[in-house]
Amino acid sequence: MNDLAGKHVLLGLSGGIACYKSAELTRLLIQAGARVQVVMTDAAQRFITPVTMQALSGQTVYTCQWDPRIARHMAHIDLARAADAILIAPASADCIAKLAHGCADDLLTALCLARSCPLLIAPAMNRQMWQHPATQRNVAQLRADGVTVLGPASGPQACGETGEGRMLEPDTLRNTVVAFFQPKVLQDKRVLLTAGPTFEPIDPVRGITNRSSGKMGFALARAAAEAGAQVQLIAGPTALPTLEGVLRIDVQTAQQMYDAVMACVEAFDIFIAVAAVSDWRAESVSAEKIKKNGEFVVPRFVFTENPDILAAVTRLPKPPFCVGFAAESSDLEKHGREKRLLKNVPLLVGNIGPETFGQDKNELMLFDETGIKHLPRADKLSLARALVKEIAQRAARVSAKPQ
Ligand code: CTP
Repeated sequence: MNDLAGKHVLLGLSGGIACYKSAELTRLLIQAGARVQVVMTDAAQRFITPVTMQALSGQTVYTCQWDPRIARHMAHIDLARAADAILIAPASADCIAKLAHGCADDLLTALCLARSCPLLIAPAMNRQMWQHPATQRNVAQLRADGVTVLGPASGPQACGETGEGRMLEPDTLRNTVVAFFQPKVLQDKRVLLTAGPTFEPIDPVRGITNRSSGKMGFALARAAAEAGAQVQLIAGPTALPTLEGVLRIDVQTAQQMYDAVMACVEAFDIFIAVAAVSDWRAESVSAEKIKKNGEFVVPRFVFTENPDILAAVTRLPKPPFCVGFAAESSDLEKHGREKRLLKNVPLLVGNIGPETFGQDKNELMLFDETGIKHLPRADKLSLARALVKEIAQRAARVSAKPQ
């Protein structure tokens, strides 16, 4: 995906073993469409060579303020001016200390001081160095100065110790940079989503579920987080990985999903019900596996209705802005209109064709009080971003109305 098309990212490397990950990070940023300009400190060049970074970035790598290739010797100004964002990965304890104090004794720190664009840093160091009060003070100072601190992660370290201080993985950093450039249309809004299928057991090894993969709900959770929201996802059984910046509760059954939603929904501004919730469950679940017992007797099940989560939320005295989804096998326009009214939601989103289940692409039809809007076929993340904008506009209109 071309998420970073037209963006100019200045990638700064300071000294640390995590420099080897910056090679992969460069590749990922370029794959996402960014132009990557690498600047390395002297210490960084002890870990990885400018040749590697130049080959991967396709741009001249700068290492020195006094580089004779730069006219006027104003590398720090020219490089800072050209960047849409500066990402320092890895950011060593020394580099962080210099930035916190406004030192400018090498090209990287000088251009950070000369910048007007945002600065993101991905700290990477031994856990004792990270926990040291001096480092913590410096990091707090940088945060107060408006610098975005990414990580660090916890885990085994190159020094043999285990703890906090590892640089975030390259794909996480790429996703964070992508998110950073998304418009913050849901800044500080609290968004609750359900996603995926539910699983209704009939005995300890069998159950009833549906073909929902959870991809659309997870893409929406990610898009909402990218848009600046605090996101809580309540997910039915799916193998999809947890998204960065998104809190997740895993459930199996419709009743568990209902309980999880109702326990917290009042704290949210927006509720998006993407889950394909099973409408029914077996009235009684066998404690033992149901056996064939030698002769073939087809078991008969009695079903009972599951609670309707979305309906329960819209019935609350002060419901959040609610968005419903619909997957219909026929006549989406008719069913979508009817379902929006039936579910009493300001916005209902119809998946065009049930064959979108499990696929990476989708096409949506939006139903609201003004009529129908079509979001054309695209990958689910792009669609989710477009849908987040639609939701944000409508939610803002509702909250702007006098109560
Ligand atoms: N929904 C829900 N709880 C349920 C059933 C549905 O929260 N027990 C939500 C879904 O997450 C979706 C919307 O209601 O946002 C519509 O779901 P859908 O399955 O399309 O509709 P149903 O209400 O189940 O109606 P039907 O199956 O008859 O089409």
